[in-house]
Amino acid sequence: MFVEITILAVDDDGMNLAMIDLMLSPLDGTVLKANNGQQALDVLEAFPEVDVILLDLEMPVMNGYETIKHIKQHAKWQETPIIVVTSGTTQVTRTLSLGANDFIAKPYNSEELRLRVMNQVRSKRLSALARDMNESLERRVKERTEELHLKAVELEEEMVERKVAQERLQIQAAQLEKMNETLEQRVQERTSELSERNAEILQAYNELKRVQGQLLQQDKMASIGNLAAGVAHEINNPMGYIIGNLSCLSKYVDKLTTYLDANEQHFASKEPATWQHLVTERKKYDIDHIRQDLPDLISESSEGADRVRKIVQELKSFSRLNNEGVKMSDINEGLESTLAIAWNELKYKVSVIKEYGQLPCVLCNMGQLNQVFLNILVNASHAIGDLGEIRIVTWAEEATVKIAISDSGCGIEPENLTRIFDPFYTTKDVGKGTGLGLAISYDIVVNKHGGSLDVVSEIARGTTFTISLPLKNAHE
Ligand SMILES: Nc1ncnc2c1ncn2[C@@H]1O[C@H](COP(=O)(O)OP(=O)(O)OP(=O)(O)O)[C@@H](O)[C@H]1O
Ligand SMILES: [Mg+2]
Repeated sequence: MFVEITILAVDDDGMNLAMIDLMLSPLDGTVLKANNGQQALDVLEAFPEVDVILLDLEMPVMNGYETIKHIKQHAKWQETPIIVVTSGTTQVTRTLSLGANDFIAKPYNSEELRLRVMNQVRSKRLSALARDMNESLERRVKERTEELHLKAVELEEEMVERKVAQERLQIQAAQLEKMNETLEQRVQERTSELSERNAEILQAYNELKRVQGQLLQQDKMASIGNLAAGVAHEINNPMGYIIGNLSCLSKYVDKLTTYLDANEQHFASKEPATWQHLVTERKKYDIDHIRQDLPDLISESSEGADRVRKIVQELKSFSRLNNEGVKMSDINEGLESTLAIAWNELKYKVSVIKEYGQLPCVLCNMGQLNQVFLNILVNASHAIGDLGEIRIVTWAEEATVKIAISDSGCGIEPENLTRIFDPFYTTKDVGKGTGLGLAISYDIVVNKHGGSLDVVSEIARGTTFTISLPLKNAHE
């Protein structure tokens, strides 16, 4: 199992050296020889593969102790085991403390020598093996460590690269997100700008339509007023003398009747034949009936004339009120004059019940309020199918005057109650209603007079509009 072993025997006695050579011959090795320490060092220099040194102590030139010191000082020989060959055991401790590995006391037998030599050789080779293994292990560990280190460096570099790439990506993502946000924001801004503009345009358009409608209504009211004033003026003069003549006629009829009675009495007592003739003639011409009917005819005509006069007055009052602007006004008077105007619309199907209360004068634009009354009355008439009733109630309540106009018409669906004041909301056929009446009425009552306009309605039972006007709060 061993490769050939090399032994260095150091002794100044040639006999001893020959003896050792002989004793070790069975080991199949080479025995190198030296006569003193110095020679031994030279041999070692020439044969560094020496496995073990058998060293005598007492020698000339360089004794055994010196030799041990030298050998153990040099790193290249440090591991070479030294077996000290001594004649006594007293030197053993010293040699061991200098670094000798074993000793053999003279006289020794060949068996012991070989055993001790082999022991040292084995232990030297084992420790060399162990050292080699250790070194190779260390080298491998080192290599592995270096590899790992390289790998770690590579990994670290890769990680750094990845991190940089990731950071770049993150920056790009952030930039994209920001761009997205800006874009979204711009789109949102643009959209809201556009919808604002749209709303403005729509509002302006509605306002325009509302103003146009209002102008139309005002025009309508002004023409009605002018027409009413013209008609009233035209009728007023002939009515003057019709009423005057009727009262004259009534007196004349009285006188004529008294005169005829006197005639008849005279002929009845003085000339019966003439009286008889007059009675026949009276019957023939139905004079009794005419005499009986005449006062009725005259009073009916007077009554009719009186009504015409009243209507004329109301027409005049309507046109006057429409042109007077803001002024202390009598609301009941306004309602009356508006009713006269609406009468044509109402007379055939509506009975109007008036419950006017005692009202203080209200600071208002009566013309505008007449427009409100007229629209509510016309709406009420339209809501009544064949026959129905409109009730107008007025009363004073705290610092307000209230006007409730109720009809027995079709009523308004609850979901439409909030819509009826919207401009252009109408359920009437195209061309029949503009849907502006209540919108304008609301504007006049609420915005121009600081009042309120409320509605209560029940389907198939009817509707009540209640106007509430503060006594002194008109804006115009
Ligand atoms: N007394 C009422 N009974 C039932 N429905 C009513 C009554 N008053 C108003 N309405 C409803 O409210 C709608 C709006 O009325 P508004 O007076 O504003 O317009 P209009 O009468 O339709 O048209 P315009 O008055 O402009 O000629 C009417 O079309 C009708 O449907
Ligand atoms: Mg209307």
